[in-house]
Amino acid sequence: MDYSILVNKDNPLPRAHIPNSLVDAESKYKENIKLDRLAKESFDKLKNEALRYGYNIDIVSGYRDYDYQEKIYNKLLEEKGFTYAITRIASPGKSEHQTGLALDFCIYKDEKCYIEHDVEDKIETKWIHQNCHRYGFILRYPLDKEDITKYSYEPWHLRYVGNIASYIYNNNLTLEEYKERESR
Ligand code: DAL
Ligand code: ZN
Repeated sequence: MDYSILVNKDNPLPRAHIPNSLVDAESKYKENIKLDRLAKESFDKLKNEALRYGYNIDIVSGYRDYDYQEKIYNKLLEEKGFTYAITRIASPGKSEHQTGLALDFCIYKDEKCYIEHDVEDKIETKWIHQNCHRYGFILRYPLDKEDITKYSYEPWHLRYVGNIASYIYNNNLTLEEYKERESR
């Protein structure tokens, strides 16, 4: 598994691409969510450290196959139109959820479950953003980097990249910028 794999609008995956490292993410939010084994083990460690601060986090979305991405892409397109959808959801083949290395987290708090934009102002989210690199994750679609990632800020979307995560975090890079530096 190439943990630094770049999947974006310019670097798609074939329809048939299914990672062979998928395991059950053991999410309590939803059954049968799958993730790459190391990404899952690393998220478990992040989750356990978060719990020590009283932060209760879980996985809402992990691996998504091509057909499922197509389904949710078409749904958002129909509901909100192209201009909205284009910076919010990847078209099939172009989502890094298809790698098994991306996940969307939720926060359980005050007997509620916060997802997507509702995690934005939470202390848990701030902590995750500052600490997930120690477990190999980066915030994949940061604020103020939309021109590079081509997606709106997604405070809930983490990407497992392994041991390059701290370098990316400390240098305030996106994965696109990291790959560009690496190729020089
Ligand atoms: N929301 C992200 C960009 C995806 O659909 O993969
Ligand atoms: Zn996501």
